[in-house]
Amino acid sequence: MSAGLRVLVTGGAGFIGHHLVRTLMERPETGRITVVDDYSTGTPDNLAGLTGDVEVREGSVLDADLMNSAVAGMDVVVHLAAVPSVPRSLADPARSNAVNVTGTLNVLEAARRSGGPLVIAASSSSVYGRHPQLPQREDALPAPASPYAVTKLAGEGYLAAYARSFALPVLPLRFFNVYGPGQLPGHAYAAVIPAMVHAVLTGGKFTRYGDGTQTRDFTFVDSVCTVLADAAVRGVAHDGPVNLALGGRTSLNEVAALLGDILGAPVPMRTAGPRRGDVPHSQADPALLRSLFPAVAPVGLREGLEATVAWHRARPRP
Ligand SMILES: NC(=O)c1ccc[n+]([C@@H]2O[C@H](COP(=O)([O-])OP(=O)(O)OC[C@H]3O[C@@H](n4cnc5c(N)ncnc54)[C@H](O)[C@@H]3O)[C@@H](O)[C@H]2O)c1
Repeated sequence: MSAGLRVLVTGGAGFIGHHLVRTLMERPETGRITVVDDYSTGTPDNLAGLTGDVEVREGSVLDADLMNSAVAGMDVVVHLAAVPSVPRSLADPARSNAVNVTGTLNVLEAARRSGGPLVIAASSSSVYGRHPQLPQREDALPAPASPYAVTKLAGEGYLAAYARSFALPVLPLRFFNVYGPGQLPGHAYAAVIPAMVHAVLTGGKFTRYGDGTQTRDFTFVDSVCTVLADAAVRGVAHDGPVNLALGGRTSLNEVAALLGDILGAPVPMRTAGPRRGDVPHSQADPALLRSLFPAVAPVGLREGLEATVAWHRARPRP
């Protein structure tokens, strides 16, 4: 076993998780990386070909014994495993609650028992919900509009409670619409950017819910992983939630236009009414993030979209 920082990544076979594993492997401070994933939305292919000190354990964050043994001896836990979408939580709220809330509690309990590694966890901009103030600051009153948002808010609450009750170092980060290579299209719950690219490349149609003027703070996955790895290496802790986005605000129609330009063909659309649980606007106030991570340098939207399109073009399609 190599020396250096020992990091557990739950959900490490997923979209953000597999990028994080690679980002961590590039950091000289990292020693052994362990992944726990049940492959419900992630896939072992995402972790294929890794040559470093990486152990992959197939299993669920709902398995308390597995979590106790996986967390033991870790310096840092990055907890990404979740049922990660609003529509999935509308289809099965109890499942989202079990994985996202009880799963987070299992991680925290295991951390407390093992003597307190730093627990960094993925929350979501969805906790702001329909709160009208833009940009969204962490001290705004949450207004969740979906069961998913409630599960993420509960997770943040548990992190803060474990910090205050048991002096566990924690860092709840609110992710905002992360996109990039490896984010899969072609399923009912696909995120908008892969769904748009897929529509152009396969001659299908992107379903736009609402009029497309809803805005999001799209964040390239490398920017997210750079912050996560930096937090792990420097041991950055903060009891309360921290936005992980850089304060951009782009409408769906603007993203479609940019992608059309990069792809050389417009995104073909069919329109539908607004989607339940959707929020009209989302934009981070990045002041707290910048104070904790002064060196953070975001990847611009066009650059991130170009890298994303390049990945989709290179990907073999069935
Ligand atoms: N992608 C985004 O835009 C975004 C935005 C806000 C928050 N987040 C959060 O970021 C995290 C990662 O999301 P992602 O986009 O990479 O999604 P993803 O679905 O690709 O990754 C989630 C991973 O967790 C695993 N998982 C699910 N249930 C599990 C369980 N019970 N036990 C073990 N592993 C389990 C899945 O197999 C998958 O590999 C999630 O917590 C999500 O809620 C993502």
